[in-house]
This record gives sequence, C-alpha cells and structure tokens, in this order.
Amino acid sequence: MEIIVTDADAIGALVADEVQALLARRPDAVLGLATGSSPLRVYDELAARVRDGRVTFAGARGFTLDEYVGLAPGDPRSYRAVIHDELVSRVDFAPGAVLGPDGGASDLVAACADFERAIQAAGGIDLQLLGVGTTGHIAFNEPASSFASRTRVKTLTAQTRRDNARFFDGDVDAVPRHCLTQGLGTILESRQAIVIATGAAKAPAVREMVEGAVSARWPCTALQLHPNALVVLDEEAAAGLELIDYYREVAEHRGAVRRSAPGGMLAP
Ligand code: GLP
Repeated sequence: MEIIVTDADAIGALVADEVQALLARRPDAVLGLATGSSPLRVYDELAARVRDGRVTFAGARGFTLDEYVGLAPGDPRSYRAVIHDELVSRVDFAPGAVLGPDGGASDLVAACADFERAIQAAGGIDLQLLGVGTTGHIAFNEPASSFASRTRVKTLTAQTRRDNARFFDGDVDAVPRHCLTQGLGTILESRQAIVIATGAAKAPAVREMVEGAVSARWPCTALQLHPNALVVLDEEAAAGLELIDYYREVAEHRGAVRRSAPGGMLAP
C-alpha cells in the first residue's frame, strides 16, 4: 500500500492526476466509480479538466460499485442517479458507457451475474476509486464479507443505514436495508485501487485498513492484498495511524527511487 496524507483540499487534484494519467496512456480505460461523499472533489476536478480540454472520457467506460435494492427507477438517491449527477452528466462519456448493478431487477441474482459478466467483457477494471465506510466497508461489503465474494445481494448494517440517512432527509427508515455490491474478490481484481478517506469518523476504519490484521471484521483490510493500492487521506482520517511519520517520509522521498514513467505516479 502507498499512503499519502495531505490537505483535504488537495485530494481532488491529486486523484484526478491519476485518472488523467491513465486516460492519457489508455483512452479506452475501464474506470471503477465510487459514490458517496469521498470522491466528490475528484469528480469536480475531472469535470473542470474535461471542460478545459485536459481530459476526455470519450473512449472510456465505467462501472459503479454498488446500488440500493428497491428504489424506484430514477430515484435521485439511487447510485445510478448519483453517479449520473456527480460525474457522467458533467463529463463526456459515450452514451451507455457507465453501468451499475440493477437494484430494481426482478431477479437480483441474475442482475449480479450480468454485472460481473459486463465487467469481465470490458476486460476488467483498470482503476477502481473507493471510499471506506465507518463500519470498514468498501463498496457495500459489510463486516463478515468473504474476501472471495463477487457482486451479490448484501444486508446493510444499522450503522451504515444511519450514516447514509443524510441522503434520505435524515430518515434512517427510508434507507433501503438491502443492496447489490461488487464483491471484495471483484474489487481485488482491479489493476489499480485508490481509496479516499477524510474526516475523523473514518480514522478507526483507516487504521484497520492500513495497519490492522487482515480480517473479515474489517472488509477494507482486503486492500492489503491488493498489489497496487493507493490510500489518500486527510489529517483527520489519518490520525489513528501508528506509523504516520514513516508514511510521510515515504511520500516525501517517493520520487527518488520511482522510475519516471509517462503514466503518472503509479505507473509500473
Ligand atoms: C457508502 C458507499 C460506499 C462509500 C462509503 C463511504 O455507503 N456504499 O461506496 O465509499 O459508503 O461513503 P462516504 O464517501 O459518503 O463517506
């Protein structure tokens, strides 16, 4: 894992640089798109860069991570609508280039299998953006998720439903109990993963994700098994890290040994 601790205001541009570098070397890249608050500044930055011609998504495709079950089609709180509003409508993806699991399907198991097949058919995900939940979830893989899991139906924890009630006018009962989510196994197959976490509420999960024992109790610890994971944190989210001084030192000297490559910081 590579860990960068920086100002919350710097995160949008830093992660957008990674996306821009990938699209420059691979215009038909497959992006894994997260919803939630964590990636919003990245999406703002990417929208600005599309407007001024620095980035194009014209040849790219995208897959979202997860979706609530049972919201009406077009419900603005569905992740399909959220990713449309926050990113797709503001950049230049080709029509139909971004897919998500269908939480309104009559056969949810078939919808999950279709979604996995679509990711495979696209050649897998080149860069997966991720947030982390206070329960340690990535996507909606709540505690006790199998590290081998694929896209499937999950039941949200009461904590996650409380956390997400802010998107449902504060009404926890309005937050769906079930969701579809890419599995940890699906996420671990992405070729690059970038996790963004900000704010003190994320500090316990971040500490487990980076320094804790690999365990289904904290699904985000699966990322310790990812061969190319970058964790981007603000100071508050990083506050529980025991080895934070070491991570700062690594970040400070990262240029010295890294081969210079046209593909950005993480290019092999
Ligand atoms: C949400 C989503 C995740 C997201 C996480 C953190 O419920 N299912 O994909 O990354 O929880 O959310 P936020 O970024 O709003 O803190």
